[in-house]
Amino acid sequence: MRQKIVAGNWKMNKNAEETEDLLNELIDKLPADVEAQFVVAPTFVNLASAVQHLEFTNIAVAAQNMHQAENGAFTGEISADMLKSIGVETVILGHSERRSYFGETDDIIAKKTDAALKHDMTVIFCFGEELQDRKDNNHFNVVETQLRDGLFHIEDKNWERIILAYEPVWAIGTGETASPDQAQEMHAFIRETVEKKFGSEIAENVSILYGGSVKPDNAKEIFSKPDVDGGLIGGAALKADDFAAIASAI
Ligand code: 13P
Repeated sequence: MRQKIVAGNWKMNKNAEETEDLLNELIDKLPADVEAQFVVAPTFVNLASAVQHLEFTNIAVAAQNMHQAENGAFTGEISADMLKSIGVETVILGHSERRSYFGETDDIIAKKTDAALKHDMTVIFCFGEELQDRKDNNHFNVVETQLRDGLFHIEDKNWERIILAYEPVWAIGTGETASPDQAQEMHAFIRETVEKKFGSEIAENVSILYGGSVKPDNAKEIFSKPDVDGGLIGGAALKADDFAAIASAI
C-alpha cells in the first residue's frame, strides 16, 4: 500500500535556535489524526539535534543532500554513513537546485542513490522539467530521461525505499503551481513509466509527491488527485501553521 507523505524541505533556512523553535511548533501543531508520514529536512548542521528532538514523534528527519563516496578527500561533503550514524534514515536527492546550481547530473544522482540504498536509507528522488521543456512540449521526455538515467538501474527490492517527488522547476519558489490536472497528468505518466519497467505492483506502491509552491490554499485540491500521494514543500514548510495546514489537507 502506498503511503501518504508530507515532507518539508527547509533548504538553507533556520539556524540552530530557529530550527528548535520550528520543531517545537510542529510537534504541537501537526495533526495527530491523519494517516500520513511527516518528514522535515533541516540543514546538515541541525540534523543531529532534530533527530533527538523528534525521537518520540511521528515526524521523520531527512537530509537535503549527501555525497556518493563512502568517505575520503571530498572537502565539505557528507556521506551516507555519517547521516546514518546520527540517526538520519532519509535523504532528498536530485533536487533541481542541486542540479542547476551545483552541477548534479543524472549520473551523479544515480551514484548518490546507490550509496544511499547501500546504507539502507530511504531516498526522496526529485526530478521535473524546466519551463522551456514544457513550452516545447518536451516535459514528458525530460521526466522519463531523469527517471531512467537517475533511478531505473536499481533492483526491484529497493523500490520500497524510494519516494518520488515530481517538482516542475517553473513552479518552485515562484508562487506559480502546476494545476491539479497538470500534476495528475504527470504523476499518472510517471506511474505508467515505472510500471513499464518494473511492473504494476511496484508502480502502484510507490508514493509520488508533488512539489512546487504548495500552500495551504491549494494543497487540498492537488492532494485530491488519485496519483498525487503527498507533497514536498519548500517555502510553506518554514511556517508551522502553513505546514500543519498542508499536512491536514492530506
Ligand atoms: P516551494 O514550495 O517553495 O515552491 O519549493 C518546493 C521545493 O523545492 C521543495 O523541494
